[in-house]
This record gives sequence, structure tokens and C-alpha cells, in this order.
Amino acid sequence: MKIIENSIEGIKEAAEILTSNGIVAFPTETVYGLGANAFSKEAVTKLYEIKRRPSFNPLIIHVSSYDMAKEYGIFNYTAEKLVKKYWPGPLTIIVKKKKSKVVEAATAKLETIALRCPRNIIARKLIRELEKPIAAPSANKSGKLTCTSPGDVFAKLNNSIDALLNGGDAELGLESTVVDCSVEKPCIHRLGNITLDEISSCLEYKIAFSLQSEKQIKSPGQLLKHYSPDAKLLLNQNKPNRGDIFLSFGPHPKEIDGLTLTESKNLEEAAKNLFTFLHILDRMSEAKGGVPIKVAPIPSIGVGAAINDRLLRAVAK
Ligand code: TXA
Ligand code: MG
Repeated sequence: MKIIENSIEGIKEAAEILTSNGIVAFPTETVYGLGANAFSKEAVTKLYEIKRRPSFNPLIIHVSSYDMAKEYGIFNYTAEKLVKKYWPGPLTIIVKKKKSKVVEAATAKLETIALRCPRNIIARKLIRELEKPIAAPSANKSGKLTCTSPGDVFAKLNNSIDALLNGGDAELGLESTVVDCSVEKPCIHRLGNITLDEISSCLEYKIAFSLQSEKQIKSPGQLLKHYSPDAKLLLNQNKPNRGDIFLSFGPHPKEIDGLTLTESKNLEEAAKNLFTFLHILDRMSEAKGGVPIKVAPIPSIGVGAAINDRLLRAVAK
């Protein structure tokens, strides 16, 4: 894997790799994405193989503007309202799909399409340079811990992808909020930094967080075990013992191995650190022969709800 630094030439080089059907990890404000040219069947197929992602699980199509998004999806009143408020930003909108050059495999042959215009300027420059949308899941193997830093992308995907466009650590640390606007009653499929209350207040009604039934799988990622470290995770732990590995919330207890997500109980800081710290503690656990990682309770307010959502999926069987 080639590491490309962020510069005009670097972005050109990354776009050339994408044009020739290569896979490039690139920064977004949420997490690193594993990018493929969304118009290339070869590249998209390769992406599913690298991620070991089931073919029925669709990808997010990344665009550099709302105008570009409208070439691929039909934006109704609700979708437009959300986009006007939150794009560019950590929000993915599911809308009815337009006939376009986006390959069928990228949207798992659904009649809908998930679109996102990232706030990260490197990501948008890359899309503009490519002059095509980028299909990109989070940079991790299916079901495993998401990567939010270039170091973690390198450690986990070095041998599998063509290049990494270095944009430093992700600003937010959790994947985007996903809102399905393709249905009569819009609902949230994935919680993220933009909270349920914020979406509700933008739409002026209380939107629901809906996990779909297995019969109508639309966001399969939301149903399965996901975001898992190799170590066993134990949630809502208040009293770690010596020898434990502890991920704390607030000041870290003395003489206990581990890290605090945030000294000051700031939930945004905790969200930003969550995946990076789980990677570190996962390595610590391996070095100690597989000691489980104990995680402190995290309040489910604001972005805390999204943090707990990730943690619950990480321990799901
Ligand atoms: O922040 C993010 O969203 C990151 C960065 C790279 O943009 N991307 C990301 O992609 O998290 P991924 O593939 O890990 O998660 C996309 C989620 C999956 O749960 C997928 O099932 C859902 O979006 N999804 C994609 N297209 C969909 C569609 N047409 N209908 C319903 N769900 C869809
Ligand atoms: Mg993912």
C-alpha cells in the first residue's frame, strides 16, 4: 500500500489510482473510508472482496455537492430539508435511486441509494478530481473495529489496498448518521454525531430510530455483530480490578491499565477517541494473553446514544 500525503499532487495521484480501478483509503470527518470509483464494476467488486462484505449490504456513495447527489437520487422535501441543514457533513441520506452510471453492485441492487457529501475537504477534493462519485464503506474488515486514524488503517489494511491518502485523525470518530427518506415515514437507521433530537428538530417532528426486521433488510450492517475488537468487551463496568484493562469515562482510576475516553466527561471527545482507543486496548489485551476490555458506563445522551449503539453491537453475538 502506498501512503500518499495530502497535497494537490497527492490528491491527483489518489484520483488516478481510483480511475484505474484501485482502492484508496481516504479521510472523512467521521471515519476513514475505503474508496472505489462508483462507476467501476471491477473496483466495486474488489472492494466487497477486500472488506469481506456480503453483497447484499449496500455502500454509501460519496459526492462533492448536493447538485452532484441529485444526479443519482431523487430528493423529496424531507431529504432536501436535511441536506440543506447538514451537508457537507456527517449525514447519509437514503433516497430513491435514479438510473445512472453508479454500478448496481454498489447499491446491492436496491431501488434506493445512500448518498453523503462529507465535510472533510480532502474527501471532497478527491471526488472533484475523480469527477465521479466514490463508493466507500468504513475502512475496516466487515464486522471489525472501524479505523479513524491513518495508523490504524495501515495496520489493518496495509496488504489489501492500493493506497492511503493521509488526512490525519478523523475529526468526529463515529460513522455518519443514516436517515432513510425513501419511505413514507422517514427514520434513522444509524445513530451518529448528528443526534436523533437534532434530526427531529430540523424536521419539526419526532423521528424514530428503526432497526429493520430481518425480512426487509436494508441496512444489514445494523443487524449484525459489528465494530468488534478481537478482545472480549464487558460493558457498564464500574469497578475495575488490578490486572484489568479498562476504558474509562472521566478520570482514569489509579493503577489500572487502560485509557480514559475523556477526562472531562465530554461526549464528543469520547466519540472521537472510541475506535482509536479500542484499537490500542485490543493490542494491549493481545499482549496480556487475551484479558477482556472492561468499559465504563457511558450516558446515552446526545452523541452518547451513538457511542452506546456501537458498543452494544461490538458485544453482540
Ligand atoms: O461515516 C460514514 O458513513 C462512513 C464514511 C466512510 O463516509 N461510511 C460508512 O459506510 O460507515 P459503511 O458501509 O460502513 O456503512 C454504511 C451503512 C451500512 O449499514 C449500509 O447497510 C447502509 O449504510 N446503507 C447503504 N446503502 C443503503 C440503502 N440503499 N438502504 C439502506 N441502508 C443502506
Ligand atoms: Mg462500517
